[in-house]
Amino acid sequence: MHYFDYRNDELFAEDVPLAEIARRHGTPFYVYSARTLRRHFRVFDEAFAGADHLVCYAMKALSNLSILGLFASMGSGFDIVSGGELARCLRAGADPARIVFSGVGKTDEEIAAALGAGILMLNVESGPEMRRVSEVAGRMKKNAPVSLRVNPDLDPGTHPHISTGHRDSKFGVPLSQVFEYYAEARSLPNLDIVGLSTHIGSQITETAPFAEAANKVASIVERLRADGFALKHLDLGGGLGIPYQEEPPPPALYAKSLLEPLKNLGLSIIVEPGRVLVGNAGVLVTKVLYIKETDVKRFIVVDGAMNDLIRPVLYEAYHAILPVRRRAARSAVVADVVGPVCESGDFFARERELPEPESGDLLAVMSAGAYGFVMASNYNSRPRAPEILVDGSEAHVIRERETFDDLVRAEKLVILKTK
Ligand code: LLP
Repeated sequence: MHYFDYRNDELFAEDVPLAEIARRHGTPFYVYSARTLRRHFRVFDEAFAGADHLVCYAMKALSNLSILGLFASMGSGFDIVSGGELARCLRAGADPARIVFSGVGKTDEEIAAALGAGILMLNVESGPEMRRVSEVAGRMKKNAPVSLRVNPDLDPGTHPHISTGHRDSKFGVPLSQVFEYYAEARSLPNLDIVGLSTHIGSQITETAPFAEAANKVASIVERLRADGFALKHLDLGGGLGIPYQEEPPPPALYAKSLLEPLKNLGLSIIVEPGRVLVGNAGVLVTKVLYIKETDVKRFIVVDGAMNDLIRPVLYEAYHAILPVRRRAARSAVVADVVGPVCESGDFFARERELPEPESGDLLAVMSAGAYGFVMASNYNSRPRAPEILVDGSEAHVIRERETFDDLVRAEKLVILKTK
């Protein structure tokens, strides 16, 4: 569900025509719909209404300050994975007591910054990391609130690059070592063992893997309780998919599959949705430069590229592509939609059927809100696209298009003597 719709054959973001944004700000650009973001947060949050819960938006999906500010104002917490994300969400007004810190490789500086800010908990992913957190907390004369992230060893049925809950993945503590690590955690100074966490992967489109994970962690929690651990929080990660092409379950069903196995544990539930909150709330708008035909193929060459949206080549991801202006009597063509970057992997779609465009037309690459802009790069010295946030009839530039000076700002031109 989103608020990108056609009115008289013109694609709008809420009440703003995308073509109007293109006229003002050029292409390519990202545009997000505030109404969609608010709605997604509300629907997701309400799905967990029956339980003591906290939604911690996984800000890695889309981390513009204005987006974070919007979620913070709705009471969202944040799931962070770096010191940069901590600084960003604090800058946007996040409540530190609603921040959880995940990730396998936290540095001393990041641990110290998180403890200094007073976050809710650090999700610790290995024995060495747990010992390091204890040391850093000791130096700061603080107690670190920690949970151990458990790898539940299951297959969430998603792309291997975004599957994290299998035993050969780098994430979490293996099931076979969980109790050992909890016992060690208890023996270490300056740790408050407040919870348990897990996360099984991303773009998951069935409820069964979530239910399986919840069942596995429920029995671990019961045993830990019996061993005297007073756990308060159970962090179930993120992972609910969105309809790129497939039909994921609605948040209410997803919540039910997670909560059912946990209902008698009396824990406060933390969830870390990323994609489901922001994915369909953003599109990437790009302009057709050329139609190129070879003996065997037709290419629609656009001004956006893999440096703007890398998901198609990285995960074989499908993104619907819609014309910003629908024209009657346009025949359909089958084409690859490609960018100007010098890589064969630079495509948004392959062998895609779409209404025949012409040079100068605008195309909207849909469902690009999550893991779109945040994964953009400057490859081929391409400035990153601007981000626009539409709210009703207003379009706010929340990040300007980069300039050449931005690209070389940190560089030094050192001219070496020829030898
Ligand atoms: N919590 C943890 C610990 C995570 O690692 C992730 C995502 C999330 C929550 C949020 O998952 P979500 O609700 O968004 O599925 N770049 C990839 C996705 C990488 C996901 C990484 N972790 C993509 O474009 O598909």
